[in-house]
Amino acid sequence: MKELRNNIGFDLGSSKFRFYKEGKQIGEIPARLELDGEKHEKLVINGKIADFNGTETLLRQEIKKIQKPVLGFLYLPFNSLVSVPSDMNEVALRAFRDSMEHAGSKTCFMLNDCFIAATGLEIDIKNSTSMIVDCGAGKTSITTIKGFEIIKNDILDIAGINLDEAIRTYLSSKYDLIVDLKVAEKLKIEYTDFRENKQVDKTVRITGQVKQTDSIKDIKIQSSEITDCLRNDIELLVERIIRHFENLEDSVSEKIKMTGVYLIGGGFKLTGLIDLISKKLNVNSKSYGFSNDYMKTGLQKIQANPGELMRYMMI
Ligand SMILES: Nc1ncnc2c1ncn2[C@@H]1O[C@H](COP(=O)(O)OP(=O)(O)OP(=O)(O)O)[C@@H](O)[C@H]1O
Ligand SMILES: [Mg+2]
Repeated sequence: MKELRNNIGFDLGSSKFRFYKEGKQIGEIPARLELDGEKHEKLVINGKIADFNGTETLLRQEIKKIQKPVLGFLYLPFNSLVSVPSDMNEVALRAFRDSMEHAGSKTCFMLNDCFIAATGLEIDIKNSTSMIVDCGAGKTSITTIKGFEIIKNDILDIAGINLDEAIRTYLSSKYDLIVDLKVAEKLKIEYTDFRENKQVDKTVRITGQVKQTDSIKDIKIQSSEITDCLRNDIELLVERIIRHFENLEDSVSEKIKMTGVYLIGGGFKLTGLIDLISKKLNVNSKSYGFSNDYMKTGLQKIQANPGELMRYMMI
């Protein structure tokens, strides 16, 4: 395949759906939203499409917005490149591809997200062995690839949303305070601190609803409490990353020691987390956690060089 005309790249994350065209992000929508007056709690759960009807309606609606009609009414056919998690099963892949085709896509390529990320990270996939850990909203995937072969893949549900839920549960059980998941996410982003010996303990005021009543109250707690209530989950996450690495064959782990482990995804933005992992893993970590650019760049490179497309395809 030499050319792939009029194509749109899709990254279906658990927290956000992102759309790309010609190397530019052209849309971003939350994966939890109201469509046609109907509330869709979550379209993707742990990297899997949970609500096909909702997803199809959403795609139809978004594609209409981003496609510019010719002569004001004629929509040109487009091809889609969809980044999907490597553990998505074949039935779900086919169902999603059908949804895309109903939503107007001519050909829909379902591509393995770890290879797209690797491409975006400028990894020379064909000639290297790499370990990539993507801590997103709904899941963390730990993947080791050798060329275009996945040699080990672990998916954990400890990721951004799960940490927000842990904060919410802590406030409810310790202070009888019910807060929205968004509030819990904000507390996580602003106050958790996993740096060693450098933690700044701040007083945090939190407003929420008193459990089993309609009344509202304010509490004041120390920020270290928020960090502490996430410690078990973070320890488990680090342990699973270490276990993945230690279970690789020696020849593979030796290569990874030289190239470093790639840590990507918004979840790794937690203050001090990347340093903590690097120290415990004792392997240099390459941190890319601060942007989603690697997905954009990965999709852009594949869009520009569709000859390689087959290697990325899941079905
Ligand atoms: N500064 C920050 N500190 C801690 N967590 C953060 C920060 N910024 C974003 N996050 C978390 O990162 C997560 C989103 O990451 P990302 O955009 O990589 O997920 P996604 O691609 O939508 O999901 P997934 O890959 O699981 O399908 C959210 O849970 C969010 O709370
Ligand atoms: Mg993601």
